[in-house]
Amino acid sequence: MSIKLNIQNASFRDYELEYVRPLVETASMLLSERTGQGHEMLGWLDLPHTYDREEFARIKAAAKRIQTQSQVLVSIGIGGSYLGARAGLEFTKGPFGNQLHTGRGVEVYFAGNNLSSSYVADLLDIIGDRDFSVNVISKSGTTTEPAAAFRIFKAKLEERYGKEGARERIYATTDKAKGALRGLAKAEGYETFVVPDDIGGRFSCLSAVGLLPMAAGGMDIDQVMMGCLDACERYQNPELLQNDSMLYAAARFLMLMKGKKVEILASYEPALVQFGEWYKQLMAESEGKEGKGLFPVSASFTTDLHSIGQFIQDGSRTLFETVLWVERARREITVPADPGNVDGLDFAAGMTLQTMNEKAMKGTLLAHVDGGAPNLVITLNELSDYTFGELVYFFWKSLAVSGYMIGVNPFDQPGVEAYKKNMFALLGKLGHEGAREALEKRLESLN
Ligand code: PA5
Repeated sequence: MSIKLNIQNASFRDYELEYVRPLVETASMLLSERTGQGHEMLGWLDLPHTYDREEFARIKAAAKRIQTQSQVLVSIGIGGSYLGARAGLEFTKGPFGNQLHTGRGVEVYFAGNNLSSSYVADLLDIIGDRDFSVNVISKSGTTTEPAAAFRIFKAKLEERYGKEGARERIYATTDKAKGALRGLAKAEGYETFVVPDDIGGRFSCLSAVGLLPMAAGGMDIDQVMMGCLDACERYQNPELLQNDSMLYAAARFLMLMKGKKVEILASYEPALVQFGEWYKQLMAESEGKEGKGLFPVSASFTTDLHSIGQFIQDGSRTLFETVLWVERARREITVPADPGNVDGLDFAAGMTLQTMNEKAMKGTLLAHVDGGAPNLVITLNELSDYTFGELVYFFWKSLAVSGYMIGVNPFDQPGVEAYKKNMFALLGKLGHEGAREALEKRLESLN
């Protein structure tokens, strides 16, 4: 087992855990019997058993083709259509993965997840004269950010390779039958992959949505699915104390009951920063509704101990931490001796940075717990393709149980529409003109 949860520093008692046991069990049953709210969106639950093997083989073939035809892949998508792949690539290749050229896959850059013109212009410069391919990922095909980015990169491809050449370098991941992108892909003859109907965006990273960019970037997606499968089997255990994903849901619920409304996912590896971004979407879109839920934050230590560390130690006592600790560093490096010892660091000479990191983690944990910020600790043995698949499933399952425990539908996201309605009205999109005048008046009154 490569993931372990430790609740020793969570500051609740065994009997409190027993009190919530019936609730966790009921929530787990709603999930396994597929009778809870949003049960039609449970395609991820047994995904490692049911995924489409034919499509999986096509994903691997397409990834190989991308590696042959290009040095760069631009993966276009927003929210659930990009966060998982980005998290997986950094998890396994580290934050410098694109620059390291380890022979593992092409450089993968993400676009269509913002509306910044500087970002897109810089990305075009990074690509420069090099060959590139595009994977456009959108269930609907009309999401503003990826649609705008796709226009730009499609035009660039056509300008460089002609219409026919561009067609060979565009891969579209979208709804199996309907939607704007499906129509366009059919008309243009792009190779397509499917965003499954029964899997929502934030649960989609182990479908074609995430697998194609991950495989093109050099991840071993067989290993990813193997980790996911093992986690799927393991977290079926109905015994709370032997099922870490249920235990994590119970612990988070107890934190919420004690007024700890903010969960900080803190890691000590910069390679996990993007995993933190993925986690935030999963938790916030699933639980943050009807005035309920924990607010998810992510932090990278020791970096952030020099910024939000003060607040965690000593600010309002409304938070707890879930620490992601990685036992084995991907690469080891040792602090050298320095005869002058001007910095007073000789106590660490000959020590690996991993050892220093571990002492920092342990010292911080004790300090934060003493300061009134309870800690849960998830230990991973390493950052591999396999553990990525495992960890993703661990969080999916736990979050689904926890969403049912607080009484929300964890599989919808009605709140995401509010900003879009206003933006479309202000942009003058067809069908949204009605609200424009009133919104502009409100904005004027604010100026
Ligand atoms: O979780 C979600 O459902 C969202 O984050 C979507 O994935 C995101 O809005 C992108 O939607 P689409 O794939 O339709 O472009």
